[in-house]
Amino acid sequence: MKEDKSSQNPAFKDQKEPAASGQLHPTSSSTSRSGSLKILLAAVLLSFVAFYVNMSPKTLPETYALCSKEGKQIYTVDDNDTSVECVLVKGSYVVDSGDLAKVQKRSDDTIGQASFPVYYVPSGSIVLPGLSDSHCHILEHGASLQIPLSEGKTVEETVSLVRAYVLANPDLEKNTSSVIEGWGWDHASWDVEKLPSWRDLEANSVVAGRPVILQSRDGHAVWVSKRALDANAPYPETVEGGIIVRDEDGEPTGVFIDSAQDLIYRPPPTDEVLSRRFEITVRNALAVGLTSLHDAGFKPDSLAFFRRQVEKGTLPIRIYGMTFFDEYGSYWGDQVSPLVGAGDDRLSSRSVKVFADGALRTGGAALYEPYADNPSTNGVMRISPEVLKKVIPRFLKDGWQVNVHAIGDRANGIVLDAFAEALKGVNVSALRPRLEHAQIMTKADMARLGDLGVIASIQPTHAISDMWYAQDRLGPERVKGLYAFRTLIESGARITLGSDFPVEVINPLKGFYAAITRLATDGTSPHGPGGWFPDQRLTRLEALRGMTIDPAYASFTEGILGSLEPGKRADYVVLSQDIMSVPPERIMETKVLATAIDGRIVFGGL
Ligand SMILES: *[C@@H]1O[C@H](CO)[C@@H](O)[C@H](O)[C@H]1NC(C)=O
Ligand SMILES: *[C@@H]1O[C@H](CO)[C@@H](O)[C@H](O)[C@H]1NC(C)=O
Ligand SMILES: *[C@@H]1O[C@H](CO)[C@@H](O)[C@H](O)[C@H]1NC(C)=O
Repeated sequence: MKEDKSSQNPAFKDQKEPAASGQLHPTSSSTSRSGSLKILLAAVLLSFVAFYVNMSPKTLPETYALCSKEGKQIYTVDDNDTSVECVLVKGSYVVDSGDLAKVQKRSDDTIGQASFPVYYVPSGSIVLPGLSDSHCHILEHGASLQIPLSEGKTVEETVSLVRAYVLANPDLEKNTSSVIEGWGWDHASWDVEKLPSWRDLEANSVVAGRPVILQSRDGHAVWVSKRALDANAPYPETVEGGIIVRDEDGEPTGVFIDSAQDLIYRPPPTDEVLSRRFEITVRNALAVGLTSLHDAGFKPDSLAFFRRQVEKGTLPIRIYGMTFFDEYGSYWGDQVSPLVGAGDDRLSSRSVKVFADGALRTGGAALYEPYADNPSTNGVMRISPEVLKKVIPRFLKDGWQVNVHAIGDRANGIVLDAFAEALKGVNVSALRPRLEHAQIMTKADMARLGDLGVIASIQPTHAISDMWYAQDRLGPERVKGLYAFRTLIESGARITLGSDFPVEVINPLKGFYAAITRLATDGTSPHGPGGWFPDQRLTRLEALRGMTIDPAYASFTEGILGSLEPGKRADYVVLSQDIMSVPPERIMETKVLATAIDGRIVFGGL
């Protein structure tokens, strides 16, 4: 995840030399023509400059205006997609916006004072509302960076990354009973596309004999060592909704797919481990301009962890959580109360995540017709249609938003059947159910999605990752219904964008780029430099809204987040160049200069 190396961000440099760098400079402002006020102002300005120089540049005054010198470079993302010259911030909120002169003229009314310091963003830069990721895995991202498994180009290389991790951690190296956990292997990216086995881990002298549990990049498979395999034996013949991969003799090879992963016991992480994972994710997220994260699957221990963080103090980023529903466990929708806006609107847990099927990469997506490259299977449903039809209306009635993971066309169809029944005669905008991924859909189901008002929570970076093999899996006709973003919008569906990190990189600019180009970052695609199914591209405005106001709507927070309008939280990001107008091939060069939450700088160089 090279995008994560925030030390390369010039904003760090600017932090140390704010005045000389020509980054955001404070000046003071007033509309008054009276001489005495001017003198007062000069004093305010001087004291402010002194204050600014002496303090950490991250400390902003309670009230200030953020302005662009070159016209209207602040994208408010309001209903009319208005751009403005300035926003006025007081405390945690935006209190006014517009031309500086007008903001000044009104300031007696808006903030009860005639003057305020003004910060100008650097030439060429823009301001956007803080960015949201509508589908990600917060603690898993931190965990995924413990061992950089995704860098392995062969199975041997991947195993040697585990070896390097063991050798780099003396406590682990000494204790051969310590469980080693990693994330991110992807056999589809290896020189030989073959599932690994416990034997590959045993072949490395440092790794051999240890309990090792390695999650695949898409989170749908786990690969374990001989010791971990033995520790969890014996195994059932088959598992509903999952696959125990076996060799010619019928013995488990150490790879478990989808619900078969549950056969492998993983010791619960300690609070220290969770804190370390959380810090990694927060640091990386703020450095790429993310201020709100929708976590697509709280496990009980992660929700408890986030609640403890809120009790201890302010969460460093906004989190909107979906709590995992286990179809084999008991119904909990009436046992727990939804949590809304805890810790000064930083933590909400008011939605449930239900899994309908697996993933396309590992062949777990439930399709109507068999896989084109493996006619023996249609993929697997992880939940029965009957259970879906029972629990969806129950959760909705008990006050939970229902977000269902559905990849394959059959899974999407079955979930829409259940939604259609549950939504009869009710106000959908009060409930806002979501299809997480909505990846492969028939035309008829896309139309149904629009009619029902169900939100499609989609991941543009998946499109440019999967475009290389998608047609092999699905065939030339069915592939047209995969990541068909334009068709989704035209069917009247609301969308919201996410990355699914750590499955993909955390940088939301890559999602923006993928959505508007449908090209790999090197400008290629299976359909050439014009993009993969280019008719399905989003416009820049759709992509921008998909990362700001749409996620706010999809999390019931459009009244306080998602745009820079008076009365909303002052969450914003300053980008080094205008992603709404630069040539697409330059978008990935964009730097995040500053990220702010509640009007306070949390990353970069104001
Ligand atoms: C958008 O434009 C319409 C028509 O000009 C206007 O009535 C409305 O107030 C505007 N909305 C915002 C948020 O500026
Ligand atoms: C080694 O690790 C295991 C598993 O975490 C633990 O139970 C055991 O106490 C550790 N041994 C030592 C000597 O620290
Ligand atoms: C439906 O719900 C939304 C959001 O809660 C509300 O604003 C709207 O007035 C409701 N519509 C009807 C017809 O009740």
